[in-house]
Amino acid sequence: MTIIVTGGAGFIGGNFIHYMLREHPGYRIVCLDSLTYAGNLATLDPVKDHPDFRFCQVDITERGDVYKIFMEEKPDIVVNFAAESHVDRSIEEPTVFLQTNILGTATMMDACRRYGIKRYHQVSTDEVYGDLPLDRLDLFFTEETPIHTSSPYSASKASADLLCLAYARTYGLPVTISRCSNNYGPYHFPEKLIPLMIANALADKKLPVYGTGENVRDWLYVEDHCKAIDLIIHKGRVGEIYNVGGHNEMKNIDIVKLILHHLGKSEDLIEFVPDRRGHDLRYAIDPTKIKTELGWEPETKFEDGIKKTIEWYLNNREWWEEIISGEYKDYYKRMYNAR
Ligand code: NAD
Ligand code: DAU
Repeated sequence: MTIIVTGGAGFIGGNFIHYMLREHPGYRIVCLDSLTYAGNLATLDPVKDHPDFRFCQVDITERGDVYKIFMEEKPDIVVNFAAESHVDRSIEEPTVFLQTNILGTATMMDACRRYGIKRYHQVSTDEVYGDLPLDRLDLFFTEETPIHTSSPYSASKASADLLCLAYARTYGLPVTISRCSNNYGPYHFPEKLIPLMIANALADKKLPVYGTGENVRDWLYVEDHCKAIDLIIHKGRVGEIYNVGGHNEMKNIDIVKLILHHLGKSEDLIEFVPDRRGHDLRYAIDPTKIKTELGWEPETKFEDGIKKTIEWYLNNREWWEEIISGEYKDYYKRMYNAR
């Protein structure tokens, strides 16, 4: 079995590669990643010499390069993680989100049509459903919830999903889609809420909470997401969408306070800053379908996952300190100094 994993030098793709090489001895994993600012080869250090692993620095919008790898590797399965993934950056400059997230997805699926595969899996997001009100805790996203996007990022992911369904119907491409809630865990890029707050707290820097901090996200430990995708690519039904989430809704402000508490830092570090434009209020996944059809359930409770994650950031400072010493500094100034 040969699996092409795109975006494997990023947060979830990297965790997925570690997971698959561990759980499926004998599977060949080929990672395609163009190494944007979010891609980091150090994330793949633990597997770089694995005999069943190959890394190729390839941009998924570069058709010729993608086709060449398909000819060489003859993959059985493709899992497409590669994307521009940060909402704030999409608000700053949407174009690259449309290129990678939409055109890149089309290029990957064209390669699948041309060379043949058993399964193309699109890693999508709960953000395609838009948001839920804060005062209706009875409402959840199901696979039937209409698409209703808020940011250029979520619009690009929703466009890619529609394209996947179109390729499934028009060309008979064996597609599956997963729509997962917010992930957290090791190798999470420090521009995102949890790692940013850990890094700032450790440096005694202010922790910038958007708006009132009342917005709710539904957090899932990254390995549980990897397990869900593993199940979908092996047992999921072609043409289907599976929501992935573990009923773990938390307000941003509560997450930030929890991190400060674990690190023994003062809540005085919290700074409320102007809100994200178009900021989605609440995400909450109903995972009934993947639970009943595939028997998936999250294994890591949030209180254990967040402790493991904080420990990981404490024990792997070189991984994230290297990141925040580079281009990230300019990003941070642009994003936060003017707020
Ligand atoms: P990430 O930003 O950490 O990693 C993205 C990776 O894709 C990077 O390694 C980057 O170099 C690579 N990449 C970007 N453009 C590329 C291109 N044109 N060609 C090849 N590689 C390219 O993202 P992540 O948080 O790991 O998210 C992975 C996927 O999961 C995305 O599709 C995202 O939409 C989806 N998702 C993320 C979350 C989350 O909480 N992070 C939740 C649900 C779904
Ligand atoms: O729901 C899945 C999505 O989760 C994925 O599709 C995206 O790729 C991923 O980035 C994530 O999107 P969010 O926008 O929810 O994640 P982020 O970590 O950027 O923000 C989480 C919440 O924290 C959000 O309500 C905004 C808030 N926030 C974020 C940052 C970076 C702050 O209050 N301060 C911050 O500095």
